[in-house]
Amino acid sequence: MLGLFSSSTRQVPQTHALPQHVAVIMDGNGRWAKKRFLPRVAGHKRGLEAVRQLVKTCVRLDIKYLTLFAFSSENWRRPPEEVTFLMGLFMEALDREVKKLHEANVVLKLIGDRSLFNEALQQKMREAEQVTAHNTGLTLTIAVNYGGRWDILNAVNRLLADKKDTVETISEADLAPYLSMPDAPEPDLFIRTGGETRISNFLLWQLAYAELYFTPTLWPDFDDAAFEAALTSYRQRERRFGRTSEQLSTDKGHA
Ligand code: IPE
Ligand code: IPE
Ligand code: MG
Repeated sequence: MLGLFSSSTRQVPQTHALPQHVAVIMDGNGRWAKKRFLPRVAGHKRGLEAVRQLVKTCVRLDIKYLTLFAFSSENWRRPPEEVTFLMGLFMEALDREVKKLHEANVVLKLIGDRSLFNEALQQKMREAEQVTAHNTGLTLTIAVNYGGRWDILNAVNRLLADKKDTVETISEADLAPYLSMPDAPEPDLFIRTGGETRISNFLLWQLAYAELYFTPTLWPDFDDAAFEAALTSYRQRERRFGRTSEQLSTDKGHA
């Protein structure tokens, strides 16, 4: 019977515990800038400050995985100047931040289809991953040109390429190693800033049982107090993964 359940949702984490994995849609940069009569890109610049601060806080709190949505597969539809600015900002951030992340023992990973980025940016991404690969602290994953549907299809296609002649049907366990972030536990807490209550093609598979938290706070304003509020909300929730509340209090809900 147990084999039918997704392995990731078999164990119920302790209520009141901090999340192991936090995934964030950092939304609202453009509106933050507009409110101040600034160009949208000024909001992206300030958004990077909020990223720096959140990474520091996760390191301090000993949260193991932080995954940030920086650029979606749909964001290419934005005005070309904004896309170009964002590419420049990624490049600059990689140049300036990787050394500091390495010193903070952070493992930096990038997920998404990188083939559309220019070769210089792809090279910087590879270098950043290599430099930090053996660190043992926070795993910071940045999703760039990422889409949840792309992730699932990419996994299926890679699995097919490897196993076409040997399998007829596939299980979750077969697919899991081919999805993005195969070594991370699935996100416990999903945060979206900026007031929209949608997933926007973020981690569709991996968010199956995440606790969802939406806040109107615009991303550049998302400070420690705002993160604390999200963590407090998370810690008050009872995660059941299909069970009843009574089961959790009697048998701790395991297996
Ligand atoms: C999120 O902020 C950043 C990216 C998508 C790159 P937005 O740029 O979407 O800000 P709003 O939603 O227009 O305010
Ligand atoms: C989602 O934000 C993607 C990122 C934060 C990178 P968007 O602002 O692009 O989302 P939609 O299109 O409004 O749903
Ligand atoms: Mg937006």
